[in-house]
Amino acid sequence: MCGIIGYTGVKEAQEIMLDALEILEYRGYDSAGLAVCGRDGCVRIRKCAGRVKDLRLLCEKDGIQGTCGIGHTRWATHGGVSDANAHPHKFGRVTVTHNGIVENYQDLVQRYHLEEKLKSQTDSEVAAAVLDHFYGTDPLAAIRKTVLKLKGTFALSIMFDDIPGVIFAVRNVSPIVIARARSGSMLASDVTVLGQYSREYFVLPEFYVAVLKEDGVELYDMAGETAEPEWQAVNWDVDRSSKGGYPFYMEKEIMEQPQVIRETVIPRIQGGIPDLSEDGIPDGLLADCKRICVVACGTAMHAGLVGKALMQSLVRIHMDVELASEFMYTDVIVDEDTLVIAISQSGETIDTLEAVKHAKKNGAKTLAIVNVRGASVARASDYVIYTNAGPEIAVASTKAYTTQLAVLYLLTGRMAYVRGIFGAEEAKAFAKELMRVPEVMQKVLDRKEEIHYIARSILNAQDVFMMGRGLDHAILLEGSLKLKEISYIHSEAYASGELKHGTIALITEDTPVVAVVTQEKVKSKEFSNIKEVQSRGAGVILFIKETFGPEKEASWENVFTSVFTLPAMEDGFMVMPASAALQLLAYYVSLDKGLDVDKPRNLAKVVTVE
Ligand code: F6R
Repeated sequence: MCGIIGYTGVKEAQEIMLDALEILEYRGYDSAGLAVCGRDGCVRIRKCAGRVKDLRLLCEKDGIQGTCGIGHTRWATHGGVSDANAHPHKFGRVTVTHNGIVENYQDLVQRYHLEEKLKSQTDSEVAAAVLDHFYGTDPLAAIRKTVLKLKGTFALSIMFDDIPGVIFAVRNVSPIVIARARSGSMLASDVTVLGQYSREYFVLPEFYVAVLKEDGVELYDMAGETAEPEWQAVNWDVDRSSKGGYPFYMEKEIMEQPQVIRETVIPRIQGGIPDLSEDGIPDGLLADCKRICVVACGTAMHAGLVGKALMQSLVRIHMDVELASEFMYTDVIVDEDTLVIAISQSGETIDTLEAVKHAKKNGAKTLAIVNVRGASVARASDYVIYTNAGPEIAVASTKAYTTQLAVLYLLTGRMAYVRGIFGAEEAKAFAKELMRVPEVMQKVLDRKEEIHYIARSILNAQDVFMMGRGLDHAILLEGSLKLKEISYIHSEAYASGELKHGTIALITEDTPVVAVVTQEKVKSKEFSNIKEVQSRGAGVILFIKETFGPEKEASWENVFTSVFTLPAMEDGFMVMPASAALQLLAYYVSLDKGLDVDKPRNLAKVVTVE
């Protein structure tokens, strides 16, 4: 949470930072600010509550010229949303931007007698004050002494008044990546923003200090010894970070799914069979584990639930899906026979990261399914499979989710094969159906206007219920999250059989119900459950596998509010076309309500605080 940017070079820092902050805004959008070291050597700050566009207006009226600066877009934790609490924070000779939480900030306030001296309510300003306290003439020594005093997580970018043109950075857990730009050096919270400036970056190792200058970057360990950065190539195209003509990133990212699923799956099919050897996944890992436990949050956790349904039915292996945020506090049993799979788009979700570390301590083998290369969860895990979704900018996850599903299909297929459950022919048939996903999903996307029309029927709803069984329920948990996070309509997904154990009390003619029916084995029970809610007055929007429908579509007209037929795949793969349809439903509700689809209130794309 919170986006950090820094630039020092030969160009105007303010412009570079404003452009970068606009991209980084998905990490938090409560306030924005920047500090620039002017040509006279003075550090000046512009900051305000609100969006980066508000900061841009401020800078247009009263900009700061200079070629070295640090910027920030905030997701408020300590201290409300206000101009004063916006970053950067300047204390004495030190200016900082911070991502993370300094947990012991109140102790530090007392210890360094800061009560009367602070201008904000943030823990971040306290970090600046402690830095200023320790700063004599040696910046590295001051940083070292300060980080030893800070408890919690932090990514700090720092400028000292008397060292113009230089940015220092240090971190614990919260991410910072550093790039050699064509015109100078840059740092950022994630690599998404760096693609247009550089093709080379490195992840700042924890408790190392980076020193960014116009002509290069130096790295020091805590003992003050120089270290060699591990440079890696930026692997994302610049135009993947643009809206590409769509009004919102979310629509663009939904529409990109056939392509990115193809890019995730095709390189991992060898001789017609799912094959993860290029990712360095040994077959023994998949053959020998006795249990699987997924740790993930939000949408990524929902991907895990689909994975669980697949694995249990095809591989017959015990699999649990744990909320990463609960994992450490609920005595989940993991041991050396457990394969812990961490799923994360960003690879920076703090709870998922901590869960991986906890699982490793307990002897489990860990495998990460991550989108962002080199991210913390990937580095902390024994093995990693990257989803090739490219940058996902909209806060609501879409293509990251379906590429996570694609990897889970690959894992399921490979595991069934190496355990002898699938023979070569079955493994090939499974892979063939998986490779059909992009084309089938495209058919749904081509009919997006039909879903747009359906979305209008729930535009004014206060509450929406979603019902399905088995895999359909797993998809609806995600469909429901998507709807509530971007449309602000209260929505709940229920296993259809559970509704009558309480929740059906809430069903009235004012509560539209979305039902998904794609699984032959529960189809008739599902229809009985749909009748139960219809009998209580609810209008039902039905998403149904096309081969399940009555012969004449007209016979549906009086029965359902709307019906969308999903192009057919084998039941186990219907998750994919159904997911795309539910994403579009949520998208159009939000769009037609005139909401900021890509930046829903209170949310941030990357959750780096517990
Ligand atoms: C919802 C959404 C979130 C994330 C969750 C985990 O659309 O995107 O629920 O899935 O915050 O994030 P990652 O996958 O980055 O660990």
